[in-house]
Amino acid sequence: MDRKTILITGSTGGIGKVTAKALAKLGHTVIIHGRDKEKTASICEEIKSETGNDTIDYVIADLLLLSEVSQLAESFKKKHKRLDVLINNAGAIFGKERETTQEGFEKTMALNLFSPFLLTQLLLEVLAKSPAARIINVSSGAHTMSGTPDLDDIQSTKKYSFGNAYGLSKLYLIWVTQRLATELKTNGMSNITANSLHPGTIKTAFGQRAKKGFVVDLLFNISMLFAISPEKGAENTIYLATAKEVEHISGKYFSNKKIARPSMKYYSPENEKAVWNYCKLITQPYLD
Ligand SMILES: NC(=O)c1ccc[n+]([C@@H]2O[C@H](COP(=O)([O-])OP(=O)(O)OC[C@H]3O[C@@H](n4cnc5c(N)ncnc54)[C@H](OP(=O)(O)O)[C@@H]3O)[C@@H](O)[C@H]2O)c1
Repeated sequence: MDRKTILITGSTGGIGKVTAKALAKLGHTVIIHGRDKEKTASICEEIKSETGNDTIDYVIADLLLLSEVSQLAESFKKKHKRLDVLINNAGAIFGKERETTQEGFEKTMALNLFSPFLLTQLLLEVLAKSPAARIINVSSGAHTMSGTPDLDDIQSTKKYSFGNAYGLSKLYLIWVTQRLATELKTNGMSNITANSLHPGTIKTAFGQRAKKGFVVDLLFNISMLFAISPEKGAENTIYLATAKEVEHISGKYFSNKKIARPSMKYYSPENEKAVWNYCKLITQPYLD
């Protein structure tokens, strides 16, 4: 087996933690990520002792803040000269009131879209050093459930609903992944692939903290009764990170370890480009 260096965001719980453990078990160098130092360090030790793999490290950042995304990339690059797989897994749904980060961005877009976009851009130079690098963006089947995108108001300043913001953030993540795949090819970086995926409906802590209102919380909890295990949910990510047969596939959306067709309802090359350019604009100050 060729040992890969793999960075997974949001690996202190849920699908990310299971993914990290499985990849560590396979003998890869795994860099986990969390926002709480004590919790992350303890999970790092847990993975080492459970898998017998000593090549586990961690990085810390609150990914709601783009300045912390930059710091994460810097501390990663100080320690690691190469990256083979970047898994942008961290993500969340927020509450019924629109909230902004200390940097002024709507929280859903900040965490689920701007943060993976920026982290990817900042790590491209280390990904480029791998003979065959992979970028995996964890999206969601919820991208099919959003309302009509307002590309002049991506951060929902005029009209906000948490479900819509979440669905759109995951739709835009699929679009920027597609666009990234094209950009990588155009810029002669065809050793790097970029794909997105839907993990399934998984029983994790996902959505539990968000204040969604009594009825929505109830419906959410009922849907969780039918959710599958994080072990099952991690399978698609592990497959995209390791399977030989996907090494050259780029710009696709995967579900159940197969290429799937994302919703085309609001897709157009112009819309994809508009979202890409918007992410570029937002993240530009954090790129230098
Ligand atoms: N569960 C599902 O049914 C489902 C379905 C489709 C897609 N997804 C997607 O799958 C991914 C993983 O979700 P999950 O179900 O495993 O959820 P989860 O159990 O809530 O785990 C999310 C992970 O992201 C981290 N995270 C959240 N906000 C963060 C922040 N501001 N900064 C840094 N890290 C942060 C969490 O860290 P803490 O431990 O510090 O909270 C945790 O490690 C997400 O992108 C989600 O949108 C999930």
